[in-house]
Amino acid sequence: MSGIFETHAHFDDHSFDEDRDEVLSRVHETVDYVINCCASVRSLTFVPDMCERYDFMYFSAGLHPEEIIGVDMSIIDTVEKAAMHPKCVAIGEIGFDYHFDDGESKELQAKWFEDQLLLAQKLQKPVIIHSRDATADTMQMLKKYRPRGVMHCFSGSVETMREVIGLGMYIGLGGPVTFKNARHAVEVASAIPLERLLLETDAPYMAPAPFRGKRNDSSLIKYIAEKIAELRGITYEKLLQITSDNAKTLFGIK
Ligand code: NI
Repeated sequence: MSGIFETHAHFDDHSFDEDRDEVLSRVHETVDYVINCCASVRSLTFVPDMCERYDFMYFSAGLHPEEIIGVDMSIIDTVEKAAMHPKCVAIGEIGFDYHFDDGESKELQAKWFEDQLLLAQKLQKPVIIHSRDATADTMQMLKKYRPRGVMHCFSGSVETMREVIGLGMYIGLGGPVTFKNARHAVEVASAIPLERLLLETDAPYMAPAPFRGKRNDSSLIKYIAEKIAELRGITYEKLLQITSDNAKTLFGIK
């Protein structure tokens, strides 16, 4: 047991189609738990199947804000069905992404976000939140629904981090803490109360230095943990223990 709990990866991504089983076997040598987050409609069937084959994998069910275009609202029933699976530990990833938005999908994003927050409430599951270039709208939604959960791949300021944890939520940090130009991520990693921190890779995206730009996988999470442990002046093992305990508490894994 390495003590590593990876809280956010996408092994259903097509970039793993050629060697998924090989990668997952290697990941399991260095990581104790993985939460695979659903993003697309395809994920909702693919991911539960995958998690049945791997003991150490759990998942979240939900549609990412970039994956809702053209998706019928009735698919919320498919999300709910996936969420009833015994290995589903959260609803996600859900939220707002305004990065490529020309203003036209905002309303639709809000509709899906709210419906999935309500589903989480109904099923009493935590949420995994995606927020990109949308801090104000995301905070408004979190204040309205007050879910338990995590703001994943957090890129906001220390001030916003304090607001998020003030709502009782966790912060997920990954590869950007190792990037030379990621000032916010390093500031947040240095200031966050450790009992509110989760580790994640967002694989296949966001590979940490020195692998930046390459395909990411959960075994690279050690570079993220080493960097944060160094920033906090605690041992690597201690950081893994705290963040793993946090993840088990949030996602109800014993
Ligand atoms: Ni993600």
